[in-house]
Amino acid sequence: MDYNARDSAGQNGLAIVLVLGIETSCDETGVALFDSEQGLLAHALYSQVELHADYGGVVPEIASRDHVRKLLPLVNACLSEASRRREDIDGVAYTAGPGLIGALLVGAAVGRSLALALDCPAVAVHHMEGHLLAPMLEPEPPEFPFVALLVSGGHSMLVEVTGVGGYTVLGETLDDAAGEAFDKTAKLLGLGYPGGPAVARLAQQGDPQRYAFPRPMTDRPGLDFSFSGLKTHTLNLWRTHAEEPGAAADIAAGFECAVVDTMVIKCRRAMQHTGARTLVVAGGVGANRALRDGLRAAGRKYGWKVSYPRLEFCTDNGAMIAFAGCQRLQAGATEGLAIEARARWPLDSLEPLPGAMA
Ligand code: KG4
Ligand code: ZN
Repeated sequence: MDYNARDSAGQNGLAIVLVLGIETSCDETGVALFDSEQGLLAHALYSQVELHADYGGVVPEIASRDHVRKLLPLVNACLSEASRRREDIDGVAYTAGPGLIGALLVGAAVGRSLALALDCPAVAVHHMEGHLLAPMLEPEPPEFPFVALLVSGGHSMLVEVTGVGGYTVLGETLDDAAGEAFDKTAKLLGLGYPGGPAVARLAQQGDPQRYAFPRPMTDRPGLDFSFSGLKTHTLNLWRTHAEEPGAAADIAAGFECAVVDTMVIKCRRAMQHTGARTLVVAGGVGANRALRDGLRAAGRKYGWKVSYPRLEFCTDNGAMIAFAGCQRLQAGATEGLAIEARARWPLDSLEPLPGAMA
């Protein structure tokens, strides 16, 4: 990514107002139009969940092919919802990583090519930066600096955020991501894919105290997570108790409670460590009601402000990419003409925007 002009005018000194955002990193095709003066004008999402359900998880090739089918119709739907024409677009932002490489390449190819055709700048957005900034689309956006708990299907991390691009990873998962742990638990309990919402629904009817669950990595210092032990524990409990009435719901509830407690403990540590007063929770698992309630209660107890995106912007969406891309385009970030995507892309390798580092 190059920064040609470090002002709010973007490339060539032209104002960046209307940004098209494109998200295709996994199994959702997300598109949005964000206007830097009027806010979010339109967003559209197509979830591929049904296409992958029979396979019990995302099939990368099926995901890529479906993004090809859905992306341009969604762009057109957003433009007509916002009553804008293609030529009104001032910049294009697309998720360039991390994620499934074939799926990412669809968004990168369409996004980069549209920008070329419209003669406007394009910017590659880091998917987790999109998640991290998603609460800024809400009426009362969090103020920098803050700590972000990013919990999705591919990542679990705690990040100290001083501004857009000013990211220090404080801790991350050593094995499974939080969403992955939910998805595997769901599979085990026969709840199908995607697992997070299904486990959460079943957990509502369960007793979290019936079976004992560990709170992984909380008995030692540090901010890393580990969920694979919890997964094995859940598997062993299920093997032993599957025939008992109500076992599935009680195991789901015990598992969810263990994940929530673990995250509350780690967030408290991260807040103490950084001295931050605001906690941002984002990513698909951020849609989990028990986690939101648990962190809200901790916020009240310890005096933090806790900020979330609305539920539909916790999981993957185009709005968060349009917003993050708009911040970068306004600071003059542009991509060259090459169509590039990155399956792996460390969050703290991003270039901070001016003023982002404390
Ligand atoms: O952020 P996201 O949409 O995609 C990735 O970037 O990975 O997160 C998807 C993950 C999945 O693992 C899904 O099971 C989990 O978020 N998830 C949930 C809930 N809704 C989605 N996990 C727990 N409770 C939920 N309500
Ligand atoms: Zn995501």
